[in-house]
Amino acid sequence: MIGVRQFRWPDYDAVAELWKSAGRDVLSRHELETKLLRDPQLFLVAEADEAVVGVVLGTYDGRRGWILRLAVDPTRRRHGIATRLIGELEQRFTALGCPRVNLLVLPEDDGALRFWQALGYLPFPDVLCSKPMAAPR
Ligand SMILES: CC(C)(COP(=O)(O)OP(=O)(O)OC[C@H]1O[C@@H](n2cnc3c(N)ncnc32)[C@H](O)[C@@H]1OP(=O)(O)O)[C@@H](O)C(=O)NCCC(=O)NCCS
Repeated sequence: MIGVRQFRWPDYDAVAELWKSAGRDVLSRHELETKLLRDPQLFLVAEADEAVVGVVLGTYDGRRGWILRLAVDPTRRRHGIATRLIGELEQRFTALGCPRVNLLVLPEDDGALRFWQALGYLPFPDVLCSKPMAAPR
């Protein structure tokens, strides 16, 4: 039985392992503390047999939602866990009045692209531009 709920701090080590197993950077506790001040209800985990088996980090800036760091335990994939996580996250975006949700996928990541397209997330031609900001003085 899969359950989806909001992240709690005792989940951190399991979430870090999921991100590592998916080849993703692990967000530090400090970065997550800052995120959780803003919209903690959008940081979700999936649980099965009391183990954390999936994670997704949503953010909402008041105009657009973003989906980040989705990862499912490699031994539990293709059982609908990511679909459950995104379904719950979408309900939470809707409850906030969020009109559109974006996410980034590497163009060569065929599995992830197929997953997102199965859920109705379609590619846009925009190019991501990014610049690091200086640390506050
Ligand atoms: C992508 C990922 C999150 C999918 O998680 P999941 O729990 O296996 O996904 P689901 O079981 O909910 O898949 C739903 C549907 O998406 C599609 N899908 C999912 N993974 C797929 C894959 N590797 N190849 C092709 N289609 C896929 C299928 O249509 C699937 O339905 P089906 O199993 O009945 O055919 C998981 O493979 C993962 O953690 N990958 C590494 C991290 C990653 O790529 N994250 C996303 C970055 S943008």
